[in-house]
Amino acid sequence: MEVALQRLRSLFEAFGGGAYTIGEAMSITQHSAQAAQLARAAGERDAAVVAALFHDVGHLLGFEAGLPAEMDGCGFEAHDSSGGAFLTQLGFEEDVGWLAAQHVRAKRYRVAVDPAYANKLSEASKTTLRFQGGPMSPAEVAACDADPRWPEALRLRSYDEGAKEEEPYKGFSIDAIFEEYMPAIERTFSPKKTTTTTTTRPYVLSAEQLRKWDEDGFLVVRRPDPSLTAERLGEMAEFLATVDREAYPMCLVHRERPLNGGPPQICRVENFCKHEPRWRDLCLGLVQDLVSQVTRRPAVLFKDKINFKGPGGGGFLCHQDATAYATDKLATRHVSALVAVDAATVENGALQISPGRHNEGIFPNDRGVVRDDVDLDFSHVLVDPGDVVLFDSYLPHKSDANTTDTWRRSAFLTFNSADEGDFHEAYYAKKAEVIQQGAISINLDFGGTIVPDE
Ligand SMILES: [Fe+2]
Ligand SMILES: [Fe+2]
Repeated sequence: MEVALQRLRSLFEAFGGGAYTIGEAMSITQHSAQAAQLARAAGERDAAVVAALFHDVGHLLGFEAGLPAEMDGCGFEAHDSSGGAFLTQLGFEEDVGWLAAQHVRAKRYRVAVDPAYANKLSEASKTTLRFQGGPMSPAEVAACDADPRWPEALRLRSYDEGAKEEEPYKGFSIDAIFEEYMPAIERTFSPKKTTTTTTTRPYVLSAEQLRKWDEDGFLVVRRPDPSLTAERLGEMAEFLATVDREAYPMCLVHRERPLNGGPPQICRVENFCKHEPRWRDLCLGLVQDLVSQVTRRPAVLFKDKINFKGPGGGGFLCHQDATAYATDKLATRHVSALVAVDAATVENGALQISPGRHNEGIFPNDRGVVRDDVDLDFSHVLVDPGDVVLFDSYLPHKSDANTTDTWRRSAFLTFNSADEGDFHEAYYAKKAEVIQQGAISINLDFGGTIVPDE
């Protein structure tokens, strides 16, 4: 439950405030707290109170995923059903998700059976009604009337409508709200033991995030595990930078000559996730599960590395990872997860990607480097420690050199679909041959200068 609550709390903290509007005068957090308050004051059961509190979580998910605004700036069209499904996935009992998912249908029902009701709606509610299909048809109304749960859904709708007072809850903090409703939350939280895949997830990706992934071929997941602090990740990276080669003979260590001409410095370590416990937990736990969610099938580790981009460390020319993997003839499709150890900035050579260009096959290239005449727009992926960036192996990407005087470290963990097989060992066997020839990767995309391993 801790994990689910943390997820909800951070959604409200990041997107429940004033900057994220759904067309009403009050924030989503204020509106949600008022709806729950009204439900409780009316003597509703826990499931209804919690559903009232989280009924608009779908809007928060839309903002989190960075989807473009919908419904003339009044939030996201599918926020009712997606929010309800999300609550169920997090582990709330079924009625919570179901009730939350009905609040738009309940509006469409009431407008259908009582035309005068439409006039009482807030301006934002009138706007969204147009996008939500307008009044229900007689058949839809009849179906609702036949559902014994429907009266409760209708009552919830009235709390939703009533929760639009700007004043009384001003300054109400997220901590106070969660504390106030914690007993009800605890009583309605019941992850199903049988569906372990959905209820024990370390981080549930929303339908909105999956949609963004499908459209862009990449997805930034902000701090999916709050315990992965900059300090902890820094220690894990430092362990690899100074790895004991005798204790970890399988690790490949690469060094480069920095662009400013200084002495050789470390630029990459590979093949540690299956051997070092902290990296194994992160990689084969949270990260593998995130990849499995975006690909909608179980993923297996293909390769793992950490890039150290020191001061003057080289960038990477524009390439698609798929070019290298095609030469391998191992798995056919891969997804990589960048785990940020340090913050990425334009100056320290952040990853740059070309969103949505992952569905066009392999672009014309010279040994993996996409040719200059291919028209691509790039944007920097600016992340903080603990953020995870998932990206498709066909997504064109590149990065500049690090022009600052500090280090930037990012782990790149690459997976393929488990049904194609486990190639981790085969990959590193092949890699050993490449390294013999003095290159850092199969493609010639590295912009820096590799120093041969002594
Ligand atoms: Fe809503
Ligand atoms: Fe609402």
